[in-house]
Amino acid sequence: MTISTTTTTVGGVDVTDLTRQVREMYTDVARRPEGSYHFEIGRVLAQRLGYDPALLDAIPSEAIESFAGVGNPSGLADLRPGERVLDLGSGSGTDLFAAAVQVGPTGRVVGRDFTQAQLAKSEHLRVRDGFVNVELSDGPIESLPFEDGAFDVVISNGVVNLSARKADVFAEAARVLRPGGRLVVADIVSGEHLPEAVVCNADLPIAYRTLLGGLDAPRVARRGKYSPSCVLWSAGVGGAMPEEVAHHNVHFGADWGPAFDDITRHGRVMRDPSMLVSVPSLGDASRAPRGCSTIFALEPVPNLDGKVDWVRRGDAITDRLRRRVIDSGYPVDDVRVEEVIGPLEWERRGLARGTPFSLAHTWRQTGPFRPSNRDDRVPGLFFTGSSTLPGVGVPMVLISGKLAAERVAHYARETSTLRW
Ligand SMILES: Cc1cc2nc3c(=O)[nH]c(=O)nc-3n(C[C@H](O)[C@H](O)[C@H](O)COP(=O)(O)OP(=O)(O)OC[C@H]3O[C@@H](n4cnc5c(N)ncnc54)[C@H](O)[C@@H]3O)c2cc1C
Ligand SMILES: C[S@@+](CC[C@H](N)C(=O)[O-])C[C@H]1O[C@@H](n2cnc3c(N)ncnc32)[C@H](O)[C@@H]1O
Repeated sequence: MTISTTTTTVGGVDVTDLTRQVREMYTDVARRPEGSYHFEIGRVLAQRLGYDPALLDAIPSEAIESFAGVGNPSGLADLRPGERVLDLGSGSGTDLFAAAVQVGPTGRVVGRDFTQAQLAKSEHLRVRDGFVNVELSDGPIESLPFEDGAFDVVISNGVVNLSARKADVFAEAARVLRPGGRLVVADIVSGEHLPEAVVCNADLPIAYRTLLGGLDAPRVARRGKYSPSCVLWSAGVGGAMPEEVAHHNVHFGADWGPAFDDITRHGRVMRDPSMLVSVPSLGDASRAPRGCSTIFALEPVPNLDGKVDWVRRGDAITDRLRRRVIDSGYPVDDVRVEEVIGPLEWERRGLARGTPFSLAHTWRQTGPFRPSNRDDRVPGLFFTGSSTLPGVGVPMVLISGKLAAERVAHYARETSTLRW
């Protein structure tokens, strides 16, 4: 007797169970767009992802309210009139109808999906609004009922990550594309299990803007008062430092009260600046080759909310700092390597408002008022670092790391299975 068995497990994922969960989830998205999901849906999301509002106005609003994409593939695909487009996982139809508008009456767009509620909704809208260049196809994207080379463009938005057989999806897409055709996918695609929890150390407001699809950051991060920034001149110099030089050396300007007002109230550089000079190689000889020293000088300056034109004045401000280091008696005439970092460069390195010191520690931005290290809209994501709890400085960010680790441990106890 021969017993035949069918395995539904691919790469450790139970495909039958996965398919059931995905269908249940997107049935809900089609029928209850007002429901609460662990991802954002709807028009606000679509606009933030770059869909042209005029294009959105040209497609059924009911499709958009169930929009659950992660990018704007039809925008990136540069669709032209007359093209044949296949949309993998077409959902309620935002990308489908957007593509239909762009390819026009001489083009053709096919949407493929395996969730009946999504297909029913998009078919109803197709008929109601007269999208004669649109067709729907019921079934999995891992196996396509189309001839080789049938399409000019294949698009997909937030779907391939839901498939346990990603290689099959791409193989089928390649097969149905004509030679020279285009594949435009917005997705997270990995053959590996993604961890259930992620700790984000990037600056929190920038992480919201660039890593979380533009999800609104907490109000205090968007509207709050940011700390002053600094210009940092950092150098490796030949020669040792005089004995009286310490690891940290603070040089106050003569009139330091008004000087700090310059930065914090008036948004301009200090007339008589204070500066911190540090010599890391004094405490750790491995920081410089034998007979050399590493040194940095830091002058507090306004962040990019201030009034300084850094493009025009940046070099002069740095020169003044360099001169002040020399005038203060540091032997830095033999500079071997040097680097300057000012507000524009801090910003380029991913720090909001061009400051490495994050949100200021005013009373309303400290303790419970600082941005939380979690966001219920993104389960499993936890923040650490100076832009979240408890705040700025090495001791604070070490505590922040510990708080994030506690969050992860708690989350791991509460959730044991991958959630969709
Ligand atoms: C010149 C200077 C001197 C200082 N001196 C002192 C001091 O003497 N004592 C003190 O207590 N504090 C000091 N501070 C403050 C202290 O260094 C900071 O508060 C602290 O390091 C901030 O830690 P963090 O984890 O938030 O950020 P960071 O230490 O900057 O770590 C963030 C990390 O995330 C990475 N990252 C950012 N974006 C992304 C992304 N999109 N993808 C992947 N990785 C990313 C960055 O490359 C970086 O490695 C100083 C700061 C500066 C600038
Ligand atoms: C994130 S939504 C797609 C969003 C859609 N592009 C839009 O404009 O709103 C995911 C869709 O892919 C479908 N889907 C997921 N896996 C699929 C698969 N293996 N085969 C067919 N459809 C799939 C789901 O039913 C759901 O409708």
